[in-house]
Amino acid sequence: MNNLSLIKKFPKDFIFGTATSSYQIEGNSFGESGKSHWDQFAKIDGMVFNSQDGRIACNHIKYWEEDLQLVSDAGFGAYRFSFSWPRLMPDGNQSLNQKGISFYDKLIDKMLELDLKPFGTFYHWDLPIYLADLGGWAKRDTAKYFADYSEVIIKNYGDRLYSVATINEPWCVAWLSHYLGVHAPGLKDIESTAKAMHYIMLAHGYGMEVIRSYSFKNAGIVLNKAAVESYSDKPEDIEAANLYEEIHNSWFSDAVFKSKYPENLLNILGDYMPVKYEEDLKIIGTPIDWLGINYYTRNLIKFDKQEKICQLTDIEGPLNKTDMNWEIYPEGLKKVIETEVNRYNLKLPIHITENGMANKDLNVDGNVDDQKRIDYYFLHLQEIQTLLDRGYNIKSYFAWSLLDNYEWSFGYNKRFGLVYVDFETQKRIKKKSWYEFSSNLK
Ligand code: FCB
Repeated sequence: MNNLSLIKKFPKDFIFGTATSSYQIEGNSFGESGKSHWDQFAKIDGMVFNSQDGRIACNHIKYWEEDLQLVSDAGFGAYRFSFSWPRLMPDGNQSLNQKGISFYDKLIDKMLELDLKPFGTFYHWDLPIYLADLGGWAKRDTAKYFADYSEVIIKNYGDRLYSVATINEPWCVAWLSHYLGVHAPGLKDIESTAKAMHYIMLAHGYGMEVIRSYSFKNAGIVLNKAAVESYSDKPEDIEAANLYEEIHNSWFSDAVFKSKYPENLLNILGDYMPVKYEEDLKIIGTPIDWLGINYYTRNLIKFDKQEKICQLTDIEGPLNKTDMNWEIYPEGLKKVIETEVNRYNLKLPIHITENGMANKDLNVDGNVDDQKRIDYYFLHLQEIQTLLDRGYNIKSYFAWSLLDNYEWSFGYNKRFGLVYVDFETQKRIKKKSWYEFSSNLK
């Protein structure tokens, strides 16, 4: 049975934190928030488990103090959260929701009081409905509006945030949502995919420009890296895996670190790319201060000629799986970091901004034994330790997630938290994993 005592061997200045995001926990029916495109998406039949949405979620708008206390009591030194765009700007670009503004004021002040470093993400997928109705991420204007929204954040909170990230997981915003149709807006359309793949990166670039114009210094982007591997040694599978590497990983990093997009995918998206997209790449390549990596699993890729546009499929692998049916593949975390650092010759700090697992947790008279989650954390932390020993510049590790929450198209049916949430009563119950972090962080 694994424990997390290895935490004690991490460098003294290594930051341990836990992460959440606005739509997944806040409850957007509270505090005069505007609606997000997830509210719309959840209503479409078959898109979200039991058509659940984030109107109530963990009602963090009410329980935020208790929630921050849970982060602090576990001994974490940082909290990664996101701002809700519709909460700050409910119905248009110009008007601000004062209740929203003061909510994040209180939240950040409390973090500082508890000695938690605030890691704020600007966009973790809750796009205001008015922008979704105008075409969302398939439209250039959305990237421009994102710049205005970024300014609201940096102006109001920049003096108190330890670090900021522009976008969480552009692959999900663009590919998962416009090509695979799994997340809002649920499209399967190559033209919107190509546009979104570019405009989400442009939004990042515009955001960086705003951040720099306020002389804010600790800014980055959060990319979700998959350990992409070929299903077999057959050349067609290897080629398919190489293409998927571009789709999932290098599209976004190439844009940020080389101001270009990778060739094979660009050939596929080419005809649909925005006119003169090349001119934006310099903005997208605005230097960042750190790179955030979210890692969960690997993707085993096989050539598939049935697929018309990208001829590949993701095959279910043989390893043990989490409740998301994602393979547990800790070496992958090491691999994706090595690849990233070598490919771009990175010297900048790396933050592991998310890692964790869904588990079928049961609340048995107030006890939640999630030893499997402890095992998962142990195995992944071991890989980070190996990299630190080899001199990799990794600065932090954030467990996803503080609370069981709204897991997007899986609704409330998947539990990722260190703290169990009874969604009927909103009672928070610390799981064994919370106690395990706590006894080793303090
Ligand atoms: C990541 C998301 C996060 C959560 C985890 C399980 O892709 O950033 O919101 O859904 O996966």
